[in-house]
Amino acid sequence: MNNLILVGFMGTGKSAVGKGLARRLDRAFVDLDERIERGAGCTVAEIFEREGEAGFRKRERAAVEALADTRDAVIATGGGVLLDSENLKRLQGLGLLVCLTARPEVILGRVEKSPGKRPLLGKFDPAARVRELLTVRAAVYRQAALTVDTSDHSIEEVVELLLKKPEIWKGRAESK
Ligand code: S3P
Repeated sequence: MNNLILVGFMGTGKSAVGKGLARRLDRAFVDLDERIERGAGCTVAEIFEREGEAGFRKRERAAVEALADTRDAVIATGGGVLLDSENLKRLQGLGLLVCLTARPEVILGRVEKSPGKRPLLGKFDPAARVRELLTVRAAVYRQAALTVDTSDHSIEEVVELLLKKPEIWKGRAESK
């Protein structure tokens, strides 16, 4: 399958870059968290409140399973999706994993612009939480085939950077 799957920590730009990339490549765009929200009829933050992280992860796993027939799309995922090894395997089978990264202080600045949207960061010391989660997750993010640091770039610049990578075009050429 030749999907392009954007993974990486919160605030690295997966949804915005995914949308822009899909437009430039004339592909469908799928936002996994948006699908989960639509299925649940409430926001991710509300799912965390009502069902805890375990409830959210269950919904996330089901949303990944439901991607099985998706082709030619750009898919943006939530920052924790690869923590589940089954999700990792499924997503790898669906296409190219592209990891977006950013420096912790950049991540913090970006997520602070939408308060209340990232339940995992909590209210008390989000800076410490970002660093802690980044450390825990470093190994799973390394599973991606391609990594791009978005710290010093606008959304449009990241899209352009990605379009210069031969890997981005490879799946497309093979599928046609
Ligand atoms: C999460 C990231 C969020 C969302 C949920 C859990 C995570 O998505 O899926 O709050 O575990 O990192 P974004 O990466 O789009 O913020």
